[in-house]
Amino acid sequence: MRVRTAAPSDIPGVQKVARLAWWDTYQHLLPHPLIAHFLTHAYSTQALERTLACCMDLFVVAETQGAVVGFAHFGPIAPRVAELFRIYVLPAHQGAGAGKALLEAGLSWACARGLARLEVSVLRGNTKGSAFYERHGFTLQQAQRVVVRGEGVPLLRYARLV
Ligand SMILES: CC(C)(COP(=O)(O)OP(=O)(O)OC[C@H]1O[C@@H](n2cnc3c(N)ncnc32)[C@H](O)[C@@H]1OP(=O)(O)O)[C@@H](O)C(=O)NCCC(=O)NCCS
Repeated sequence: MRVRTAAPSDIPGVQKVARLAWWDTYQHLLPHPLIAHFLTHAYSTQALERTLACCMDLFVVAETQGAVVGFAHFGPIAPRVAELFRIYVLPAHQGAGAGKALLEAGLSWACARGLARLEVSVLRGNTKGSAFYERHGFTLQQAQRVVVRGEGVPLLRYARLV
């Protein structure tokens, strides 16, 4: 398994990981139309092309035998502060170190840019996500509630030093 910067040719692989991981993770936590909306909009080819072209951000993929098995997207959100916007690993490949390798790539990137803090939001009830962050030194900062397409979405905000 290796982690590298994503290229436009990785977009179909990223979309596959997102589709499988989102349904696996959120099917019992989010209304299904909301999952479908996110996958259609946030992971459209156009949206991903725009994200990959954003030179401020880091978008990395984990690749095994030529196939994308995971991805992560980081970016600066404030002076010295970065956010992990999304990290997903194919359900069949979870627990094998891809998430850790993707996170480490983001921490190296943040460190090289002088960013001192990394923040992330996790959906409340996503125990796998929260356990992963707590295992990697993130601590809970606050609970938040955002409204997306009329639906209240409860989030937990975590942070750690880079
Ligand atoms: C969360 C996620 C990205 C972690 O990636 P992963 O490849 O499964 O995790 P890794 O195999 O790299 O695990 C790294 C470490 O975290 C630990 N870990 C991973 N999942 C864990 C869990 N559910 N509970 C406790 N610890 C866990 C591992 O034991 C490992 O620790 P170690 O390095 O000391 O052995 C992945 O499981 C995933 O995509 N989950 C579904 C989507 C999701 O929740 N994304 C986050 C949304 S905010």
